[in-house]
Amino acid sequence: MRIVHQISELRQQIMAWRRTEERIALVPTMGNLHEGHIALVRKARRVADRSVVSIFVNPTQFGPEEDLSAYPRTLEQDSRRLELAGVDVVFAPSVAVVYPHGLNDLTQVMVPRLSRTLCGLSRPGHFEGVALVVSKLFNMVQPDVAVFGEKDRQQLMVIQRMTTDLNMPVEIIGVPTVREADGLAMSSRNSYLSASERAIAPNLHRIIEAAVGRLRAGERDYRGIEDDANAALKEAGFRPDYFAVRRAEDLALADENDIKLLVLAAAWLGHARLIDNCLVMLPGPN
Ligand code: PAJ
Repeated sequence: MRIVHQISELRQQIMAWRRTEERIALVPTMGNLHEGHIALVRKARRVADRSVVSIFVNPTQFGPEEDLSAYPRTLEQDSRRLELAGVDVVFAPSVAVVYPHGLNDLTQVMVPRLSRTLCGLSRPGHFEGVALVVSKLFNMVQPDVAVFGEKDRQQLMVIQRMTTDLNMPVEIIGVPTVREADGLAMSSRNSYLSASERAIAPNLHRIIEAAVGRLRAGERDYRGIEDDANAALKEAGFRPDYFAVRRAEDLALADENDIKLLVLAAAWLGHARLIDNCLVMLPGPN
């Protein structure tokens, strides 16, 4: 496995693979890898001949009050894990490599509607930063396929939309959320939780599952379900950001005829903002 920091070195490797017509997969990450990331790597290895994992804590997707400086950076440990997972190249560029003109007056990549709801409302500019860095990574690596986690469902949808809108020749693949034994979605930010917060955290998934159960049982009062879930989150010790039942196709407000729904939630526990979601396919009319 090679660890590459410069774009020129990366391109040489990519060109060599291209000459032998090998299919290339990219897994973009911010590092501090856990089993969720490794599931993406396994998927990448199944669908392509070569795999590149990028590790880059992207400053443009963090708000001014957010955890950019606190975000865990563990390149050595991550590289060992990726080597064991059979990755070909780790691409770990510096901020200066990715943003050669600095962080001001940047060219923008915007996916307007999908980016302006849910997480986009509480994290203004976040998905613009994600869309920008992912399009940069696509240009640098030129992968045939890129793999993302369903844990960050809105991010996955933003990237799918960006890729088709900009006719990028990259296939986007989503991978189901990997969870701890108690249901908590794995996340680098779980390390911010104290022991008592960690004990509360799995309730986020449980409360989403309870809402899913009501939807499957035929309830269509989405606002009622959301209100109850927000109350349950508070009761469990969270500070809820949002709890939403949405149309899976485009994150619009769902109506009673929709059969493909998403239940999405974000909630704070101490210094950690946790997110999770579940896709619900209801039986169609007939
Ligand atoms: P990061 O949070 O490191 O996540 C990298 C990828 O791992 C994302 O596609 C994310 O959805 C996926 N992932 C995280 N936790 C997961 C879990 N428990 N199960 C399955 N997949 C999981 O997401 C980002 O980085 C950044 O925004 C990035 C796309 C790299 C752009 O900077």
